[in-house]
Amino acid sequence: MFRRATCADADEIAKLYNQAMKPGIFAMSPFAPDTRNKRVAWLREHKDPYPAFVYQIDNGKIIGWCSLSTLSVRPEYTDVAETSRYIDENHRGEGLGKLMFAHLVETARALGFRLLVSTAYERNVRSLKSAAPFFDRVAVQHEVACIHGEWHNVVWLWKKLR
Ligand SMILES: CC(C)(COP(=O)(O)OP(=O)(O)OC[C@H]1O[C@@H](n2cnc3c(N)ncnc32)[C@H](O)[C@@H]1OP(=O)(O)O)[C@@H](O)C(=O)NCCC(=O)NCCS
Repeated sequence: MFRRATCADADEIAKLYNQAMKPGIFAMSPFAPDTRNKRVAWLREHKDPYPAFVYQIDNGKIIGWCSLSTLSVRPEYTDVAETSRYIDENHRGEGLGKLMFAHLVETARALGFRLLVSTAYERNVRSLKSAAPFFDRVAVQHEVACIHGEWHNVVWLWKKLR
């Protein structure tokens, strides 16, 4: 089940984020590992309308988290949120990523957002496939990021909510 993340979840959130730095995942560079303190600060900023959620299974274990964040601090970027999703490496490819998008879309609509935006590296096939039922692919920025010594394209995904 989804529940709002609290500061008590900071260790788990950081752990799941750091798992995605491994080679072959293509989620981010491995140079800035997350820490509990970074996530506590992040969680303090993630209040409505930018909530963070953890996904907890029956034995109490957290196997993923997802969030809405500001796309830009510039004031003209109103009513738009950016999505993030990170799932335990033992539970990827089981449909939870799509469940998270459904949850984030429903939450964003309820909070009155007009647009949702998401980005993924083009080689992050799982991320892009799980986004396909929800988002339109609207742009590709070529060779903007270096991960494990290779240049990567960033795909921009877009969903109009109203
Ligand atoms: C990206 C992520 C959130 C997606 O969630 P998920 O639960 O793994 O994804 P889903 O199971 O909902 O969907 C995965 C899709 O990829 C496919 N897939 C699964 N394993 C795959 C693999 N090894 N290679 C290619 N495709 C794969 C599935 O068939 C499914 O596609 P379909 O809906 O067309 O059948 C999750 O994999 C994750 O946390 N990855 C690491 C962190 C990350 O990359 N976050 C996103 C940053 S942009």
